[in-house]
Amino acid sequence: MLRAKIVLDPVFTIGEVDRRVFGSFVEHMGRCVYTGIHEPGHPTADAHGFRGDVADLTREAGVTLVRYPGGNFVSGYRWEDGVGPVEDRPARIDLAWRSIESNEVGLNEFTQWSRRCGVETMMAVNLGTRGVQEACDLLEYTNHPGGTALSELRARHGHPDPHNVRLWCLGNEMDGPWQTGHKTADEYGRLAVETAKAMRQIDSAIELVACGSSNSQMPTFASWEATVLEHAYDAVDYISLHAYYEEREGDLASFLASSVDMDHFIRSVIATADHVGAKRRSQKRVNLSFDEWNVWYQQEFVGHTKLGMEQTPRLIEDTFSVADAVAVGGFLNAFLRHADRVKIACQAQLVNVIGLIRTEPGGPAWRQTIFHPFAQTARLARGTALRVEPKGARHETAGHGVVDTVDAAATWDEESGRIALFLINRHPSSTVDVTVDVRGFPGAAVAECLRLEDNDPRRTNTAAEPDAVRPRNDPTVRVEEGCLELRLSPVSWTAVALTTAHP
Ligand code: AHR
Repeated sequence: MLRAKIVLDPVFTIGEVDRRVFGSFVEHMGRCVYTGIHEPGHPTADAHGFRGDVADLTREAGVTLVRYPGGNFVSGYRWEDGVGPVEDRPARIDLAWRSIESNEVGLNEFTQWSRRCGVETMMAVNLGTRGVQEACDLLEYTNHPGGTALSELRARHGHPDPHNVRLWCLGNEMDGPWQTGHKTADEYGRLAVETAKAMRQIDSAIELVACGSSNSQMPTFASWEATVLEHAYDAVDYISLHAYYEEREGDLASFLASSVDMDHFIRSVIATADHVGAKRRSQKRVNLSFDEWNVWYQQEFVGHTKLGMEQTPRLIEDTFSVADAVAVGGFLNAFLRHADRVKIACQAQLVNVIGLIRTEPGGPAWRQTIFHPFAQTARLARGTALRVEPKGARHETAGHGVVDTVDAAATWDEESGRIALFLINRHPSSTVDVTVDVRGFPGAAVAECLRLEDNDPRRTNTAAEPDAVRPRNDPTVRVEEGCLELRLSPVSWTAVALTTAHP
């Protein structure tokens, strides 16, 4: 039997949890927009053609922020195609996914949908085929109050009030050779700083994200971030990180420990950004925007060269399992463990395309397994992230060496007096008993204990069985003499909410 011990204490804090770490991503890709969030004629569609069932699930997931409109898509996108009367909008070839983009949904529709779902919009500008002027035009159209050509155009399009989009991505994955308009770090760094300078002249309240590497395995990883920030350190607020994980060759143990790699990735980017800051003797800190993350079975993806110029093809509609949900719980824990520096994170993507949610055209929408750790962590993780260091159980993995069997994160909300603890048993076959010492919190008592587990870690949710995998409440867990005893089954995710005598 494996055993681990955790001590929670309000003295050991990491930083405030920024609610924007519970973001997601809507790209014009596959069926994320069309028949995902938008489907005129669907029985639940609103007057603007947006599916009510998907909007309800987006709210239920607790999504706080949505990045839009790409992704690789944005690097060939002309935003002007997506505004004005829908019947006048051109169909275009989407260079990223070799699909046909109808432009039926664009900026105005998307911001309306965001407002309806209570999420903040994070907008990306095209720095692939376009540059400073088009980014400025888009910002003027989106945020300028009125009295200029593009703000008046927005008013004529039925939106007199500015959308006030605060967060802007300066391009997408510009280090990737697959990216339309791919650039070297120097080329991109120069373009990012000039675009940032000009955009801030239009709206000084915006926050800007520079592209970091597309993933930590890129040959230019870390030197890309360093060079880009040498140019753009003073001009931007965040540097981006993207990561997708998958189980390879049946190695479940390594896959379940993917958050070890994510932690390392985050620490490496912090070190790189701070190195550039130190060289500049800067007091400013560039924080991290983990604006694409998820499980993605990329090895099963045919590759975009074989894509067939369809409208709304079924692209990368991975069906997620219990094991995938556990891995996702680990990624969310990693963000909480780095709450002092990871201020934004976007699960990619919201619907159908490696989605939290799946839909059928004209049919149902349902929660994928990964929906659950996302929704519960977004609901429960409040206030300040606590330092949690599991001691005891460890096991060997081929991909990450010896790892802690228990992946843990916790938050403490002083205002409500509530603690949230998130635990994963990363072991593919062994149970682990965990003792959680909460003596630092007088009066601590369990309010709820949710477990996501199954005898079959490959179990999935489908249209026929949409709730096969879901968290279940365990009413037996309680605090006794200041400690909590938990038995974690293999490949499982657990969340414990506690009340305390505080305030
Ligand atoms: O999320 C799918 C794709 O993954 C995005 O378009 C791109 O930015 C990343 O490579």
